[in-house]
Amino acid sequence: MDYNAPTNLLDNKTILITGAGDGIGKALAIKCADLGANLVLLGRTYSKLDSVAQQIAQLNKQPAKTIQLDLNDATEEQYVNLANQLTKDYINLDGLVHNASQLGKLCKFTEIDNQTWHEVMQTNVNAAFLLTKYLLPLLQAAPSASTIFTTSSVGHKGRALWGTYSVSKFATEGMMQVLADEYSDTVMRFNAVNPGGTRTSMRASAYPEEDVKRLKTPEEILDTYLYLLGDDSSEVTGQRFNAQ
Ligand SMILES: NC(=O)c1ccc[n+]([C@@H]2O[C@H](COP(=O)([O-])OP(=O)(O)OC[C@H]3O[C@@H](n4cnc5c(N)ncnc54)[C@H](OP(=O)(O)O)[C@@H]3O)[C@@H](O)[C@H]2O)c1
Repeated sequence: MDYNAPTNLLDNKTILITGAGDGIGKALAIKCADLGANLVLLGRTYSKLDSVAQQIAQLNKQPAKTIQLDLNDATEEQYVNLANQLTKDYINLDGLVHNASQLGKLCKFTEIDNQTWHEVMQTNVNAAFLLTKYLLPLLQAAPSASTIFTTSSVGHKGRALWGTYSVSKFATEGMMQVLADEYSDTVMRFNAVNPGGTRTSMRASAYPEEDVKRLKTPEEILDTYLYLLGDDSSEVTGQRFNAQ
């Protein structure tokens, strides 16, 4: 999608992005801050989050808040505490981007080990469930909140060897559709973005032989996310978008 975001697109909007320390989440966080948003950066590696927060500070924009949380083993109580803390810090949440994901191992279905299956589902599915569930009151408090789920081309068409990741992305799209339908009579919207092949470490682990120069960088694929986070998409819900 080509979208020309106005420089004030996200002024005064508070946006939480998971997996904001690297790859697409990092690029999106910096771009959103540049367009006026107040960022909450969630991820598992503090040094990466801190580096993104420092890059945002260098833009002379509102300081970003960092939250270190490993979505693999986060407990329900940690999600409740997180939501309580954010409710103290902010009057509402205008945007929630479920971006953090794990690929797991690409292998035959019968070779998927239980531990990998569990970890991928924890980060890709269960974290999005619990985060959305406990942040819904803050999203409801916003004038027009946008929640973005991150899917993949294997999130609606299964592919051999991609078992765990593919099933997790089907669940992601399902969660988005259920929420969009349940809240269809509200101002909240829920959509999913498939970034398409993008130059990140996850892509490199899936396609180690690939010439990365042929891939778009995270910075080059952000238009769809920006469209969905800004008010131009206020009527759009329940849709899957391809960023490329
Ligand atoms: N790149 C592509 O070609 C492509 C294609 C289709 C879909 N996607 C989707 O796009 C999204 C972003 O992917 P990406 O390519 O930018 O991946 P990436 O570069 O690997 O970044 C993923 C981010 O998620 C964080 N993360 C992973 N596991 C976590 C956990 N347990 N707890 C907290 N944070 C965790 C990582 O933190 P650390 O850095 O600390 O590990 C990292 O910041 C994902 O949902 C992915 O499935 C990507």
